[in-house]
Formats: sequence, C-alpha cells, structure tokens
Amino acid sequence: MDLDLIPAPRHLAHDPARGPYPFREDAVRTRVDPGVAARLGPEGYRLTTGPDGVEIVGGGEAGVFWGRQTLRQLLGPDAFRKARIHPDRPLTVPHVVVEDAPRFGWRGFMLDVARHFMPKDGVLRYLDLLAAHKLNVFHFHLTDDQGWRIEIERYPRLAEVGAWRARSRLGSGASPLWDERPHGGYYTRDDLREIVAYAAERHIAVVPEIDVPGHSQAAIAAYPELGNADVVDTAALTVWTDWGISPNVLAPTEATLRFYEGVLEEVLELFPSTFVHIGGDECPKEQWRASAAARAQRERLGLADEDALQGWFVRHFGAWLAERGRRLIGWDEILEGGGLSPGAAVASWRGYAGGMAAARSGHDVVMCPEPHVYLDHRQAEGPDEPVPIGYVRTLEDVYRFEPVPSELTAAEAARVLGAQANAWTEVMETPQRVDYQTFPRLAAFAEVVWSDLPAPAARDVDGFLRRMGAHYARLDALGVDYRPPGGPRPWQRRPGLPGRPRDGAPPIV
Ligand code: ACM
Repeated sequence: MDLDLIPAPRHLAHDPARGPYPFREDAVRTRVDPGVAARLGPEGYRLTTGPDGVEIVGGGEAGVFWGRQTLRQLLGPDAFRKARIHPDRPLTVPHVVVEDAPRFGWRGFMLDVARHFMPKDGVLRYLDLLAAHKLNVFHFHLTDDQGWRIEIERYPRLAEVGAWRARSRLGSGASPLWDERPHGGYYTRDDLREIVAYAAERHIAVVPEIDVPGHSQAAIAAYPELGNADVVDTAALTVWTDWGISPNVLAPTEATLRFYEGVLEEVLELFPSTFVHIGGDECPKEQWRASAAARAQRERLGLADEDALQGWFVRHFGAWLAERGRRLIGWDEILEGGGLSPGAAVASWRGYAGGMAAARSGHDVVMCPEPHVYLDHRQAEGPDEPVPIGYVRTLEDVYRFEPVPSELTAAEAARVLGAQANAWTEVMETPQRVDYQTFPRLAAFAEVVWSDLPAPAARDVDGFLRRMGAHYARLDALGVDYRPPGGPRPWQRRPGLPGRPRDGAPPIV
C-alpha cells in the first residue's frame, strides 16, 4: 500500500479503518461522466476503491488515463515493472476516494534529440515516464546546428547528410576532448507515426520543433542553397561539430520559405498537434547584415532592420500554419521584430519577461525559464556532478518553481497555458545521462504543473521530499538512472570532462 502520491492529488480521503482490499485488474471499472467533466474538466477524474473493486470516472478519456496512473501508485512500486514479479503475493489497494484535476493544460517536457540522438525506443520509454508523471506535452526538438532528425521525403539529404556529424566535443564549451566517432541518427516517417500514436495512447501531444531561421546549420549542410551563399561558402559547410550558436543561419529568401513550407507540409502530415514549434531562438544577424541578397530582400519588404526581417520570416509561418488550422509556437525571441501573428504562442525561456510581455499582448504562453527548469543545469555544487553546466538547480529549487508570475493580472495569467522542463543534450550523450539530469527533478516539476501548490515560499518541501522516498522506489522499478539524493553514483560521474558552471544564484527575471 502506498499513499505517497506524486503529483499530489487535489483531494484525497483515506480511511485506514477500511481496506486494504484485494486488487484484481478485472474489477477495475472505468467510464467517462459529464458531471465529472463539468466539475473537474476533461483531464479530471474520481477514483474510489472498495471491496467490489476500483472505479475510475473521468471527465474524459484522459481523466480515466490519469486516474489509472494514480491507481498504479496506490498498488506499490512493483506495479511500475514490466511484469509481475511476485504472482504469489496478492496485490491490495487502500480505501481511498481521490478527486483530482490538473492545474495546467500544458505540462510539458522538451527533449533535444539534435545534439545527441535518442533512438526510438528511448523516446517511447520517455513517453512512458511522462505518462507516469501525468505530463501531457512532449516537445520534440528535432533539428539544430548539430543534427537533423526527421526524415523528409521530398528533401532526402536532410536525413542522409544532416543527421550525421563527423565527431562530437566531449564536455562543454572549449573542452579540448573529442569523441572521434561520427554521431547521428534520424527517425523515419514510420518511426514518427509510431511515436505520435504511442503518445496519443497516453494522452500526450507531441509538439514537433523545426528550428528556424537560426540553429539550422545541419539543414544548410544538406542543402547549401538554404544558407547565405553570398557571404559564406555554404557548399563547404558540414553538420556542426561544436556546441553553441552557429553563425550560419538560413537566407531570408522566398526560396527558403518555400523549402520550409515543404518540410512543414510533411511535419503536419505526421504530427496532428495543434501547436507546431518553429524555434526562432538565437539567430545571429551578422550574415544577414553582410549579405547583399538579404539586404535587398529587407529593402524590398520595407523593413527597418534585421530583427524585422526575422519577424517577417516567423510571421510568414504563423499565417501559413493558421491557414492549415494549426498554431505557431516559438521561443521568446519571436517577440522581437515587429509583433506576432494572431494565435501564435510563446515559449518563455530567457526568464519570465518574454512570457509576461506575450501574455500582456494577448498571446498564450508556456513558461520554461532557463534559470528554473533547464534540466541540463547542474543539480549540486562540487566536482562530482557530471559535466557541470549552468546554475545549481536542486530538486527543492524545481519544487519551488512557479509558472505564473505574481505581477500578471488574472486575465493575463489565464494566458499561461502551463510550463515545461527542457532537456538540452550537449552533455547528455546517452539515455542514462538524460535520466540523470531529468530525474528526480522532473517529479518535482510534474507536481508543480499538476497540483494546486501554494506560492513558492509556502510550499511543503519537506513533505514532498518525504513522499519522494516512495517515488524513488517507483523510479527504481521503472529503471530510471536518476541522481540519488546523496549525489552521483560512481559510474554517474564524468571525471575529466570539463563543464561550464555559472556562479551564484540564478537571476529571477
Ligand atoms: C534555447 O534555450 N535556446 C531555447
């Protein structure tokens, strides 16, 4: 019996004088009920246990599914194994009534598969881990300077060339160490169909990201005409082997727009999600300033500067997606350059400021501020953390993350769809490394976006850490290579690989 639920439900009544009851899978009754939908929304559910079995009533099918995740926790950690290990021991459930619903509709996790490819099975496993934590958006960062990971039929070189880089820097920044093996991989269209369908069975939306117009060197390596060929020999470019922000960005031309419309047509075929992420972050403008072709395009469009040129580029895809019944989401740089297209949403990563500005101008927001929920940032001080980068963000820090800044009015706050935690993988070259950076912090994040927690200072951190005791056993059963509370296990360390830690407390902006 296990009542230390994570994320904590909205309402839990437990009567230890009654139960526990023997559990039988064939005595689980589920249904969807309009009354529960009216009270708790489509993701809400009521779970009751009794001598006759378990009843899960959802506001919608998603609610039933989240209720099933709660039931799994009530059955104990072995319920998270892939097979029954003690068939002789009867399973029991405690006497409970749970009424539950999420705080936010966007409870996301972003995985960067461009810097390091995660083979398909690893992605499916991550979808299971998200489902177990009641997270419902998988933001799939599919393209970047260092790799293109999605097969596009009409442009085969994107995968054939763009998915492979010659070698990888080991560690962060200016590390002198290299893994000299070529690195790469991509998902075929059928792989992606499988990933999307597997996610849908778990009520998870997959939001694909095709990052433009920066972070595009892998695409330019495959199709040199996409780059600024009048200022750089784009035919000589390769998939980037360094970390950071490549200066080699897309040429802001009509031909580039047509090319990416072709890419996005295939993306829309594969991914049914309302939102499509077009990146928009960290696009250096030096090449556009130096390019006669880019300048001529800017003048033809009557635009004042290169930021406005990026605004034109992004708005084009905002309108293009809207015509197809979809919505654009991009990193908060898309706010620069003259406004957003109607319906566009902002992923606020450079702190809260972009998200607040977007909410105030009537746009929806997903909060994912780097200082709080970037899972590549190190989890503790000291030399034992593997490849330590960024600020120290502990499990407790993530538990105190608040997606809605108190400065927002109620109407502005309603624009915050939710939040997501982002796993950038420059220094996470294996699924084990992703596990280490992601867990246990994703459990704290899951509670922040699901449960109705008080303001950060009033949160019961000790209570959460106590419940984590039960949750570590679930993560063990799931086979997650998380960071233990006492620090990395010997094989989780990476001595000798330089990181790039930042000092002091992270800025709250
Ligand atoms: C980002 O971290 N460049 C979105």
